[in-house]
Amino acid sequence: MSGRPPVVASAEALAAIFAPLLVDWQRSHGRSTLPWQNTHDPYRVWLSEVMLQQTQVVTVLGYYARFLERFPTVAALAAAPEDEVLGLWSGLGYYSRARNLHRCAQEVVARFGGAFPHSAAELATLPGIGRSTAAAIAAFCFGERVAILDGNVKRVLGRVLAFEGDLASAAQERLLWDAAAELLPPEGERAAISAYTQGLMDLGATVCLPRQPNCLLCPVQSLCRARALGATDRFPVKTRKLRRSAQALWLLLARRGDGAVWLEKRPDSGIWAGLYGLPAFDSHAALLAACGADDDTGFEALPAFTHVLTHKDLHLHPVERWAAVDVLPVSGAGQWVAADAWRALGLPAPVRKLLEQRLGAPDI
Ligand code: ADE
Repeated sequence: MSGRPPVVASAEALAAIFAPLLVDWQRSHGRSTLPWQNTHDPYRVWLSEVMLQQTQVVTVLGYYARFLERFPTVAALAAAPEDEVLGLWSGLGYYSRARNLHRCAQEVVARFGGAFPHSAAELATLPGIGRSTAAAIAAFCFGERVAILDGNVKRVLGRVLAFEGDLASAAQERLLWDAAAELLPPEGERAAISAYTQGLMDLGATVCLPRQPNCLLCPVQSLCRARALGATDRFPVKTRKLRRSAQALWLLLARRGDGAVWLEKRPDSGIWAGLYGLPAFDSHAALLAACGADDDTGFEALPAFTHVLTHKDLHLHPVERWAAVDVLPVSGAGQWVAADAWRALGLPAPVRKLLEQRLGAPDI
């Protein structure tokens, strides 16, 4: 072949060839053995889609298997205590997903008698199911012809179309949703919508990468306007940068000789909402004051470390204090949690890491 074939000029012409190319590629080269594929069970598909919202496939696999084993049905998940759900979720991050997962299961039971609704429009009325997740479930499970547009798919379509609109603008994002709908395989091809939807996800995850996309492996390279312009790195356009902030927290690690550790259940909003954590303070002095201490005798400053959240760098300063069995180590609501019982609780990842370092990793 000499040079690159021209990209297709009109939107209609593009729509006619984009979907078949993607569907063929998905069937021959896409992923087909993931545990949430080859099923039309909306519970399984929903669970996977929520877990995959901000997390990579390799990380999700173990969590997905453990959740299904413990909660084989949406009714079992709905009936579980929230603490247990958060405990199983521990380490996946973005805990609002876990709380919404639990609420969603309860609504499916209460509002729909335990059966997920079939349309993307109704699915999107449930907690934690946004427009793209709703569309993915409806396409995979019920063959609905409906567009998805998650972060990866914005990149794929932003490039194929050389979409100049700034996706920081809701109006421009709506236009990309419209364009995504125009590229769907034709009405009446029920099996195709599933392969098409998975194909977009697979392409975004494995070929059309944020940096250094593998254009030579791409089934739609000949249609891609960004590639024709030699400008895959310019698309998608998004100007608004995340404003990152930083916060320092002093964490009290109060422990007893019998292995117990003092934990507080965190409030329902704010950082680490609903999880169990170490009492956290804005300064070393505030920590000492809450412990009723005049100086830092008996408090050992452990090495500080940084934990990176999406919007924020947390600079964490753990301070260890040994306490007698009959002593409340700090003011405020909290409880002694027996040795090893903390392992099953929903804990922020850095707190779990710290406890494992200081109190020992689990026996495997
Ligand atoms: N990311 C989001 N949904 C996915 C799926 N169904 N398969 C693989 N990765 C995904």
